[in-house]
Amino acid sequence: MVRKAKAALCREHNKPVTVEEIAVDAPKRGEVTVKLGACGVCHSDLSAINGTIALPLPLVLGHEGAGVVEQVGEGVSDLAPGDHVIFSFIYMCGKCRFCVAGRPVLCLEQGKALTTPLEGTPRVRDASGAPLGIFSGCGSMAEYATVSAENLIKIDPKIPLDCAALVGCGVTTGVGAVFNTARVEPGSSVAVFGCGGVGLSVIQGAVIAGAQRVIAIDTLEPKLQMARKFGATDTILFKEDPVKELKKLTGGGPDYAFECVGSGELAATAYRAIRRGGLAVVVGVAKPGDSTSVRTMTLPFEEKTLTGSYFGSCVPRVDFPRMLSLYMAGRLKLDELITRRYPIGEAPQAFADLQAGKNARGVIVF
Ligand SMILES: NC(=O)c1ccc[n+]([C@@H]2O[C@H](COP(=O)([O-])OP(=O)(O)OC[C@H]3O[C@@H](n4cnc5c(N)ncnc54)[C@H](O)[C@@H]3O)[C@@H](O)[C@H]2O)c1
Ligand SMILES: [Zn+2]
Ligand SMILES: [Zn+2]
Repeated sequence: MVRKAKAALCREHNKPVTVEEIAVDAPKRGEVTVKLGACGVCHSDLSAINGTIALPLPLVLGHEGAGVVEQVGEGVSDLAPGDHVIFSFIYMCGKCRFCVAGRPVLCLEQGKALTTPLEGTPRVRDASGAPLGIFSGCGSMAEYATVSAENLIKIDPKIPLDCAALVGCGVTTGVGAVFNTARVEPGSSVAVFGCGGVGLSVIQGAVIAGAQRVIAIDTLEPKLQMARKFGATDTILFKEDPVKELKKLTGGGPDYAFECVGSGELAATAYRAIRRGGLAVVVGVAKPGDSTSVRTMTLPFEEKTLTGSYFGSCVPRVDFPRMLSLYMAGRLKLDELITRRYPIGEAPQAFADLQAGKNARGVIVF
C-alpha cells in the first residue's frame, strides 16, 4: 500500500524547504514503514540544505525522528506494528569489522544507505511521480517513512515521542561524546563551544559525568542563559579569542573541550584552550573544504589530543535505552530541550528559527 504523507523537502541548495505531499511505498524485505510522531530540527538538516553535507537532491529531510511502526516488510522479526521506535541515522550492517567490534558509527556499509534504504532504490516519490532521496537513510521529516529495519531502535512506549526523537541525534551525539568518546572524568573541567541542541547535550552529559566546571561559550547571550539551565557553571560570550579567559578560569586550561559548531578555526581554538594532556573533541560538522591546524610541537611536549566524535561514538541499541533511562530517572532533561513545536506546514519557519539561533531544539510534531 502506498501512503500519502506531508513532508519537508530540500529541492535546491540555499532555498527555503518546501512542504509537499509525497507518496511513501510499502516496506520491501528487511524494511519498515513508520508513522512519525515527532522529528527534531538538527543543524545537520540545515547543512544538507546549504550544501555543507553534500547529498544529491531532491531530498526528504529529517533524521532525528521517533514514531510508531505501521507496517513491517518480509523478514523483519524484531519489530511489529504498534512498536514505538527511534530512528538511528547510521546504517549498521552488523557484520563488518567495526560493527562487530562495537563501533557501528564507523560501519563500512554506511555509504550504501545514505539516501535510500539499503536495497538502493527509492521508496518515496513526489506528486509528479519523481523519486526522492531520504536524508541519512531516514527522511523522517514526513508523516510516514519507509526505512531499513536496522535504522530503527525499539523503545518503551511510555516515553513521549517528541522527547524520544531528540535521542535519535542531538542528545546521543552530545551526551555520547562525553560518555563514549571523551570518557569525561568526575571532578574535571569542560569547555563547550556552541550551545545548540548538541552543545547543550554535551553540557548535560558533562554534568551527569560529574564534571566540576562546565564552561559554555556561544556568540548569542540567550544561548548562554539556556546553557546555565542545563548545568553550565560559567559562560563566555564569544566576541574575541576566549582562550586566555578559559585558561584563567581553569588555572591552565580545561581538561576537555568540545567543538559543537562545525568550524576548523574553532576546533583549533578548542585545542589551544585545553591544558597539557587535555582532549579536544570536534563534534560539529564543517564544510568539506575546511581544515584545522595545531602547533605540531604541542603534540609531543604537551601530549594534547585532538579527535572527533560521530553520533557520540554510540551503539544505538545500547545508548538509546541508556539516554532514556537517564531521562526517566530525571537526570537528563529532554522536555526542556524543546523550545518550540511546529506542525509540518511550518517547517520553513522551524529552519529559519534554527538559523537565527532561537531554539535549544525545534521539533516538528505530527
Ligand atoms: N558529530 C555528529 O555526529 C553530529 C551530529 C549532529 C549534529 N552535528 C553537528 O553539530 C553542530 C551543532 O549542531 P546543533 O544542531 O546543535 O546546531 P545549532 O545551530 O542548534 O547550534 C549551534 C550553536 O553554535 C553557536 N555558534 C555559532 N558560531 C559560534 C562560535 N564561533 N562560537 C561559539 N558558538 C557559536 C550558535 O549560536 C548556536 O547556538 C552542527 O555542525 C551539526 O551539523 C554533528
Ligand atoms: Zn542531527
Ligand atoms: Zn558494519
